[in-house]
Amino acid sequence: MLGFLGEAVRSYRTTGAIAPSSRSLARSMTSNLHALEGPRRFLEVGSGTGAFTRHILGGMRDGDRLDAVELSENFAADLESVVLGPHRAAHPNQDVRVHQCPIEEAQLDGPYHAVVCGLPFNNFPLELTRRIFDIMLGSLAEGGWLTYFEYVGMRPMKAPFVGRDGRSGLRAHGDFLSGLERDHNGRRSLITVNIPPAWSVHLQASTSRG
Ligand SMILES: C[S@@+](CC[C@H](N)C(=O)[O-])C[C@H]1O[C@@H](n2cnc3c(N)ncnc32)[C@H](O)[C@@H]1O
Repeated sequence: MLGFLGEAVRSYRTTGAIAPSSRSLARSMTSNLHALEGPRRFLEVGSGTGAFTRHILGGMRDGDRLDAVELSENFAADLESVVLGPHRAAHPNQDVRVHQCPIEEAQLDGPYHAVVCGLPFNNFPLELTRRIFDIMLGSLAEGGWLTYFEYVGMRPMKAPFVGRDGRSGLRAHGDFLSGLERDHNGRRSLITVNIPPAWSVHLQASTSRG
């Protein structure tokens, strides 16, 4: 928790949170994973200190694979030593790896049955958000799911502090994300037990994909 806060202070734009996500949010973010038939491939983007990673690992079976992509060197090193390393030692037939790099540069090995994303999109320029969704949706297997979250009311709350350009950027983000929900059979769940409360949003891969 203190490590998370330190990283948030150092790099607020990319961390985008003051505390790790709650168990309730983690359960909602990973609720689609367990029903998928194996062997399954999972991609996690923006693992931080592993709030979602632990839930993904908890549902993994032999033959499954997890690629966790995390930008921060400190978070990636802790994720490996505290979460992934011990899991690998206890479950040698599961393939779990951390990639310390931005998702835009990750060497992905999909297609993935599920992508769980913890990135703070409202802190990003729209072009970066679009590019990252292209990568994540493009890496999904047919019938796969992409889940991301956003804090409740974040865009209206930021709007008074970001100037006119910032406001139009926030509006464009909102429009883009609503469009994704429309095009990808989106479903959202409200998670009140989180700091701050959040929506988890589940998007389904386009059925036209091979
Ligand atoms: C809001 S935190 C979420 C952390 C964790 N998933 C949780 O819910 O507690 C966002 C995380 O995304 C990482 N991140 C930001 N931009 C990234 C990028 N382009 N590629 C991969 N990770 C990124 C940050 O370093 C941070 O750990």
